[in-house]
Amino acid sequence: MKKLRKKIIAGNWKMNKSTAEAQALAQEIVKELAGCSEADVVLCPPFTALKVVGDVISQTSIKLGAQNMHWEGEGAFTGEISASMLRDLYCWYVILGHSERRTCFGETDDHVNRKVKAALAATLLPIVCVGETLKEREAGQTEAVVKRQLEGGLAGLGAGELAKVVVAYEPVWAIGTGRTATPEQAQEVHAFIRKVLAGLASEEAAQTVRIQYGGSMKPANARDLLTQPDIDGGLIGGASLDARLFVEIVRQAM
Ligand code: 13P
Repeated sequence: MKKLRKKIIAGNWKMNKSTAEAQALAQEIVKELAGCSEADVVLCPPFTALKVVGDVISQTSIKLGAQNMHWEGEGAFTGEISASMLRDLYCWYVILGHSERRTCFGETDDHVNRKVKAALAATLLPIVCVGETLKEREAGQTEAVVKRQLEGGLAGLGAGELAKVVVAYEPVWAIGTGRTATPEQAQEVHAFIRKVLAGLASEEAAQTVRIQYGGSMKPANARDLLTQPDIDGGLIGGASLDARLFVEIVRQAM
């Protein structure tokens, strides 16, 4: 079953890099990984650098992703970006429901659900982030939180739609802290996520969905995480801003 799922490593550049810096970073990554087809590689620069990064990777197998979008197609939504605008820039993926969006910008599971549906309708592949805070983990609520986020964010999807979604398990306490979940801790939650997905759609769809781990993933810990049976990739923050570190993580996924 596991071989059905190709590993997927995505770099979430967050609010970093000018267009010139983004271009240079993408060029370095392309130089190292141009021929790589054993793992899917996705670069998610800020909106302002989508065009320049898209141009750099256009002749390669590396795919472009965005970090957010609005669920409406167009209209009076100052400051927002639609799924079709992202498709227009040749985005394949879009990160949705990142914990920073939930915490800093009040995104709810219902918002995430609308965005997931709008993304799929526009043939964009959503990377849906879920994960508990340290307080929730310590209170023994990890499974309840992750279940609620999955059931809310993925509500109403058919099995065929669900199979296209990538889920990213990002424990909030591990993001940008240098504190990674142990491979066992991560595997436990990933297996639980797959069980919830099977309940939402079907066992077959759940076996197809790729579940990334995110939270202080680095070359030093990537292999131990990526060899767990239900960890199908990584969503990389800090280390994705350094071509050498990012490429090294991709190599660990091959
Ligand atoms: P770090 O890799 O910097 O911990 O960030 C993870 C993340 O939030 C990716 O979306």
